[in-house]
Amino acid sequence: MTHAPAGCSLIPSGSGVIDAEHGAILDLLSAMTAGGPVGLAELTALRREVAEHFATETAEMAVLSADRRERHEHAHRNYLAGIDALVNTAGRGHPVTSDDANRLMLWFIVHSNTADTELVEAARRADDEPPMISMDDWLDGLDAADRDALRS
Ligand SMILES: [Fe+2]
Ligand SMILES: [Fe+2]
Repeated sequence: MTHAPAGCSLIPSGSGVIDAEHGAILDLLSAMTAGGPVGLAELTALRREVAEHFATETAEMAVLSADRRERHEHAHRNYLAGIDALVNTAGRGHPVTSDDANRLMLWFIVHSNTADTELVEAARRADDEPPMISMDDWLDGLDAADRDALRS
């Protein structure tokens, strides 16, 4: 199986808030894939952290087109469903393996470095709208009657 390289696998997205949340989630996943326990407590903590993070991203998604937003939300829902399945497995007393945790880690790194980077870039571009250019300076050069007629 493909193993996520330890340490700096996340590319900074450009959003401090999102990157901080990614770092906290990666810490939880790193502990699991480095031989730590992968039990109900760890999976429940991961589930909570991931759900809060996805809510942060959902708030940013208004800048995306409807189909891109739905694709991103769909990916989030699938990931949460995967964590929920592991929570259920652990809750029934069955083992969750380090391979399961490794798959959670791989998805998280790939998603963060692709879909989330796209989201942050879209939000940044939305903030880069050109400034409004006022007509007033142009109208000031006209006769008073024309200026008053044209200024609305
Ligand atoms: Fe994310
Ligand atoms: Fe995301």
